[in-house]
Amino acid sequence: MAETITIIDDRTGKQVTVPLTDGSFPSTALRELDADLRVYDPAYLSTAACKSAITYLDGDAGILRYRGYPIEQLAEKSTFLEVAYLLLNGDLPTAAELQQWTYDVTHHTYIHENMRKRFVDGFHYDAHPMGMFVSAAAALGTFYPDAKEIFDKKNLDRQILRLVAKMPTLAAMCYRFSTGLPFVLPNNSLTYSENFLNMMFKIGDDSHVNPVLAKAMDVLFILHADHEQNCGTTAMRVVASSNADPYSATAAAASALYGPLHGGANEAVVRMLEEIKTLDNVPAFIQSVKDGNGKLMGFGHRVYKNYDPRAKIIKKTAYDVFEVTGKNPLLDVALKLEEVALQDEYFVKRKLYPNVDFYSGLIYQALGFPVDMFTVLFAIPRTAGWLAHFSELLLDKEQKISRPRQVYTGSAERDYVPMVQRA
Ligand code: SDX
Repeated sequence: MAETITIIDDRTGKQVTVPLTDGSFPSTALRELDADLRVYDPAYLSTAACKSAITYLDGDAGILRYRGYPIEQLAEKSTFLEVAYLLLNGDLPTAAELQQWTYDVTHHTYIHENMRKRFVDGFHYDAHPMGMFVSAAAALGTFYPDAKEIFDKKNLDRQILRLVAKMPTLAAMCYRFSTGLPFVLPNNSLTYSENFLNMMFKIGDDSHVNPVLAKAMDVLFILHADHEQNCGTTAMRVVASSNADPYSATAAAASALYGPLHGGANEAVVRMLEEIKTLDNVPAFIQSVKDGNGKLMGFGHRVYKNYDPRAKIIKKTAYDVFEVTGKNPLLDVALKLEEVALQDEYFVKRKLYPNVDFYSGLIYQALGFPVDMFTVLFAIPRTAGWLAHFSELLLDKEQKISRPRQVYTGSAERDYVPMVQRA
């Protein structure tokens, strides 16, 4: 039997029956009942704003797939560049396609010298790297006037290639500026993740990057590459819907990611762990969260009401990194927090589990990244996902400029009050 839903307007007795597709029905059904009928849905908890073939999540089952491939398999068997190709093109590349894509990305990692020498010097010495990164993403577009030609596929593909290739260079530029270290130029003999770590940490002539650490970086990039209609991707799609260029849209998405409830959580987790400091402070901290004094950062998720599958892989990757770098002392505090929270009714009842941000910061810290670089590390790989959504939206004939309605709660009409009559 076809799945349908019937909506009755009790004011008029009018009713409409519409098909249910994947648990959703078109909002046009409401307009059949009353042209001005709207659904009040703050933060879009029950709104499907688009159709997408990029990423599939099942929050209850803890499932995450990129173009149908389970994240566990991609993390184990793929590379970030191959995953970026998959997200952007819809299928895994052939050997020749991957070779060409890798060559193209590798040969687009340089940025204009004006970015490196003039643009970045405009920031204060203690500027937050994520604030610099958001600005640099938008500024990058000004070097490519043809970036606005988004309906010329060849041109859009070239802009997407530039953004994917240059994000690590921009990120390393922000970090080296903030430390007063000289900028390290991209090294085309290195892989994507090796090159990033080299641009970040190279001192002197040694360009060697530990393969275990490069692999861990690549796995973290894979895990952060896309995540369906999250806050940052929604920002990307809203800006793309006005046909803005992909650089400006990426800056908008990165701005949304910067928030502590979203991508800024990995930075907030480590600051929280540093504040707790020792195991015996864990029970008091958990109690303070339950008393409403702040959140257990890195826990909870709008969609996952089960363990975030990425958190499981990150936790495992942490041990590989700690084999090389030595264990991050904050790991024991994190493990204790998880153990206590997962047995506590407050968190169990609210289905609060570790999310992607709970353990990732411990790895970043062990790799040598300062805490204020963590959200930048999230934005680098997520750029590939954002751009996949940018392209998908442009091709979606059912999409148009985003312009939601509202429920007005302000004043009724009133006349202007001259100054002398104002209280
Ligand atoms: C990311 O959407 C994505 O896919 C995002 C992301 C991606 O890859 O793009 O997965 C990346 O952003 C992961 C989330 C990182 N953020 C954090 O770790 C910050 C801490 N988590 C929360 O702020 C919260 O869990 C959210 C923002 C992640 C989700 O919030 P929701 O879905 O709006 O849930 P809610 O705030 O309505 O919480 C429901 C209840 C509330 O309690 P009650 O009002 O019912 O009493 O759970 C409580 C909340 O107070 N709660 C928490 C909590 N998260 C929710 N209580 C303590 N600690 C927490 N972390």
